[in-house]
Amino acid sequence: MTTKGTISALTDRLTRLLTHADRPSIIRLVRRPEKTTQRSSCVLTVSRDSRPTWAEISLQNLKANFRTLRGYVGPHVQVCAVVKADAYRHGLIECATALQEEGAEWFGVTSTQEGTMLRRAGIRGRILLFTGFWRGDEDEIIAQRLTPSVWESWHLESLQRATRGRRNSSLAVHLKIDTGMARLGVQLSDLPATASYLRTHSEILLEGIFTHLASAENVGAPEVDAQLARFQEAVNIVRRSGLAPQYLHAANSAAIVTRSDSWHNMVRPGISLYGYYLPFAGSHECRPPTVTPVLSWKTRVISLRRLTSGQPIGYNGTYTTKRESRIAVLPVGYADGLNRHLSSGGRVLIHGGYVPIVGRISMDLTMIDVSDVPGVAIGDEVILLGSSGPHSITASDHADVASTIPYEILCNISKRVPRHFTNDSTQ
Ligand SMILES: Cc1ncc(COP(=O)(O)O)c(C=O)c1O
Repeated sequence: MTTKGTISALTDRLTRLLTHADRPSIIRLVRRPEKTTQRSSCVLTVSRDSRPTWAEISLQNLKANFRTLRGYVGPHVQVCAVVKADAYRHGLIECATALQEEGAEWFGVTSTQEGTMLRRAGIRGRILLFTGFWRGDEDEIIAQRLTPSVWESWHLESLQRATRGRRNSSLAVHLKIDTGMARLGVQLSDLPATASYLRTHSEILLEGIFTHLASAENVGAPEVDAQLARFQEAVNIVRRSGLAPQYLHAANSAAIVTRSDSWHNMVRPGISLYGYYLPFAGSHECRPPTVTPVLSWKTRVISLRRLTSGQPIGYNGTYTTKRESRIAVLPVGYADGLNRHLSSGGRVLIHGGYVPIVGRISMDLTMIDVSDVPGVAIGDEVILLGSSGPHSITASDHADVASTIPYEILCNISKRVPRHFTNDSTQ
């Protein structure tokens, strides 16, 4: 509901709404001053999520993770906070704003659109576009003071054309080097020509050189050595051509932990900001700085039934009760991003203990076996991701069962799941 009017009329309306709501805790309010000279007037948007499935985003945990990582790399290394893909689906604007409050000066995104969204939301820091840009984005990049990564010759030519004739025309770019991932970036064989172009076109300032590591979580892996050696070679080629980029960067979350020689003077943590690492593998020991998951995912029991032994449950009856069972139904399914591989393989937390998911996860619904938990009732809270006392379920747990990575588990939590931003620290 969106309503306009004087503060006092809106307050009355709001009071009526709150007192009639059966779940006031999930009412969200957005108050904006109306574009009018009347200072006592505003627009109030009240929304109430009636379907009880939501994600809680702890901005405190996010800030604490940022502080931890910044402290770990020390004051001479800039931390570019990776907030691409809607901050790994934690909410781009809210997360970037919290990180800015915590002192973040650089933000990493995928696209010009994400960069523009950050600017419109009041992010003042530098915004690095990791995957280049698309033709036609050039004017927006300049207008929003975004920093594109570049490697294709057309990147340079079209930016050069777009900056020509403008005052303050020098546009900072970061050159992406393909050091072995064979995905994006200039190859070493083409680098002298690229460097020569940059040296002769002063409208474009080579501010940074960077690369991305394919498997930095494999401690001591020779592939990482090879990528870092190629990166150094690229830096040497660029410097020999007479350019002096200010920033050199290669480290994602895993490399921050495993390869301090990859830090140079900027690191780009993504998943660790949100409280995760990939599992580290390899012969050498590594001690990652402690980070805490930022996102919890919760729902409530909407239906309960007692079933006799031998009753197949859900689509295709893939699970059959082995005893008299109490089954609870949850309003969450794969359309919310709950991975279907957790069907009869994952678990949730209810009343402080673990219970199994039984039967196929369907688009909107999931069943759990609460036979061993006395007193479960409709409306009880269920934790899909998060913790309760000493127990927790993480995106890495889901990823293990679903044979994927925590990134995908987090990024798949769909838009249908409202994000509630809190300033509490959660475990
Ligand atoms: C160029 C670049 N840098 C940094 C990151 C952050 O990686 P991670 O989330 O593993 O820290 C990514 C993410 O894929 C990336 O593409």
